[in-house]
Amino acid sequence: MPHVVTQACCGDASCVYACPVNCIHPTPDEPDFGTSEMLYIDPATCVDCGACVSACPVGAIVPGHRLPTGQERFAEVNASQYRETVDGSAARFPVDPARRLPLAPIDRPRQLAVDGPVSIGIVGSGPSAMYAADELLRHPQVSVTMYERLDRPFGLARYGVAPDHLNTREVMRLFDDIARNPRLEILLDTEVGRDISLDDLRTRHSALIWAGGAPTDKRLPIPGVDKAGVTSATAFVGWYNGHPDFADLSVDLSTERAVVVGNGNVALDVARILVADPETLAATSISRPALAALRTSSVQEVVVLGRRGPVHAAFTLPELIGLVDSGVPVVVDPADLESTRIDSAADNTIKTKLDILSECASRPAPEGRRIRLAFFGSPLEIVGGERATGVLVGRNRLTVDATGAASGIEPTGQTSVLDAGLVLTSVGYRGVAVPGLPFDDDTGVIPHRAGRVLDGDEPVPGVYVTGWIKRGPTGFIGTNKTDSAETVASLLADLEAGLLPTAAPRRRTLLGRR
Ligand SMILES: Cc1cc2nc3c(=O)[nH]c(=O)nc-3n(C[C@H](O)[C@H](O)[C@H](O)COP(=O)(O)OP(=O)(O)OC[C@H]3O[C@@H](n4cnc5c(N)ncnc54)[C@H](O)[C@@H]3O)c2cc1C
Ligand SMILES: NC(=O)c1ccc[n+]([C@@H]2O[C@H](COP(=O)([O-])OP(=O)(O)OC[C@H]3O[C@@H](n4cnc5c(N)ncnc54)[C@H](OP(=O)(O)O)[C@@H]3O)[C@@H](O)[C@H]2O)c1
Ligand code: SF4
Ligand code: SF4
Repeated sequence: MPHVVTQACCGDASCVYACPVNCIHPTPDEPDFGTSEMLYIDPATCVDCGACVSACPVGAIVPGHRLPTGQERFAEVNASQYRETVDGSAARFPVDPARRLPLAPIDRPRQLAVDGPVSIGIVGSGPSAMYAADELLRHPQVSVTMYERLDRPFGLARYGVAPDHLNTREVMRLFDDIARNPRLEILLDTEVGRDISLDDLRTRHSALIWAGGAPTDKRLPIPGVDKAGVTSATAFVGWYNGHPDFADLSVDLSTERAVVVGNGNVALDVARILVADPETLAATSISRPALAALRTSSVQEVVVLGRRGPVHAAFTLPELIGLVDSGVPVVVDPADLESTRIDSAADNTIKTKLDILSECASRPAPEGRRIRLAFFGSPLEIVGGERATGVLVGRNRLTVDATGAASGIEPTGQTSVLDAGLVLTSVGYRGVAVPGLPFDDDTGVIPHRAGRVLDGDEPVPGVYVTGWIKRGPTGFIGTNKTDSAETVASLLADLEAGLLPTAAPRRRTLLGRR
């Protein structure tokens, strides 16, 4: 029985390089690698050797005959990518044995043509920082100092990934391994801009990589959003994951219904945590204050409110499967599916998403705690007095283009109030400007060319960027690996071209905690 990639896949492509028959796609050099929701094993080509299992940092690959409960659909999800699509057009990854190489290609390790020690500073210790350090430390001349404002490393891998996503959190073991390299020093409790200046850092190191992430939330631009009872998912996630900035957050769970605005993967995370059995959560790393509050919670229904239809929902198929097959009752209004049409170009991922949502819509109304996935609803206003009592929602409908394909949404003019005592805005994250570095305020990122920070059209000498602050707040943990590889390649090329100083690092004053 072939091996299968399951929900926890974070897209770092380690398995691709381990597979002797090149049957895991998309590979990093295939066009849709950057946008793929996960990687998929071709069941017809897999020879069941198991090499990918040990390469995977999050335990996402299992033999097909040992799929854990709740992950069974992934056998079909993998296989469907290698079959023709809904309208009969070619498979996403056509099986063409002639094109399959006998071995996945692995580049020769690059020898860095630089004499003398090179010291690189990295700001942040999240996934993008860890992957950048790993890439740099392949070269024996290079040492890395990481500066992290929090008292624990690894950014959103620790403080973002949901506590019940045990496999995904295992990626921190890989980061621990990277951190054991004696040429890597991580200075905790050290905020660049507060404890040490950017200019000081630039004099300490041959080059600097900014990997500070996108730490704040996008604001939901509707009236009433500042009322008590409205909180951002950013804060809520930080609270249940023990992020020190959100330790004092007060979350009132004495309401029967909560609404999560937005339907990305973060929205699914917070909805799932709100209805999870606290006894199951007790065995995870969830913060103790959050666990205590959830134990006395009155929340019975969490509505996840998406402004577009099911075809365009921001959550990914692996996370939908993880939610629906975890045993949590998921409710979908059949009317939201009736008005949905599949674009003829739709791939099998969208078809499977709709099939699962249709299953949910056809089930009888569940008893007890549940998640309602609601579509075509734009939040117009948070209603209530000082405290939120609900959300005024405007009903949308699909628009279609001349070919009949879904092109977007438009308001129908109908509105209704969704009663709720807790509203969590989960409409995406946003980068913040770093004093002393260029910043694009429209997109919330540091402008760059292949990772070189740009001031207008000119590179800022010796300063590079990676991760969410480079490409915006999208993608999985593993997406940062290829992103950081690009940035490090630019940095090393500049080093070899003599554009960066190489010298023993200046003696450091003691900073932060090691
Ligand atoms: C709630 C949530 C859940 C997620 N769950 C998953 C999941 O299950 N699976 C998955 O694959 N992906 C998940 N992701 C996506 C994944 O977490 C991101 O792709 C990844 O963390 C981005 O890495 P980064 O290094 O750019 O930023 P971050 O992880 O945010 O790291 C940035 C680091 O920089 C530090 N920093 C910032 N400014 C400074 C400064 N001035 N000085 C010193 N240090 C500084 C921060 O403290 C932080 O540690 C999730 C994202 C979120 C928001
Ligand atoms: N398990 C995992 O793998 C995992 C877990 C968590 C996060 N992540 C990743 O982390 C990234 C960030 O996730 P995210 O959920 O924060 O962001 P996201 O995927 O960008 O979702 C944002 C949601 O907010 C909605 N939205 C934005 N502005 C709005 C407005 N004014 N009114 C109403 N709705 C609005 C969007 O709707 P539209 O789509 O209509 O714009 C979308 O539904 C994603 O790439 C995600 O996949 C991964
Ligand atoms: S089990 Fe072996 S052949 Fe199958 S996908 Fe994994 S590495 Fe490739
Ligand atoms: S997490 Fe990485 S190694 Fe594991 S299945 Fe996904 S791409 Fe492959």
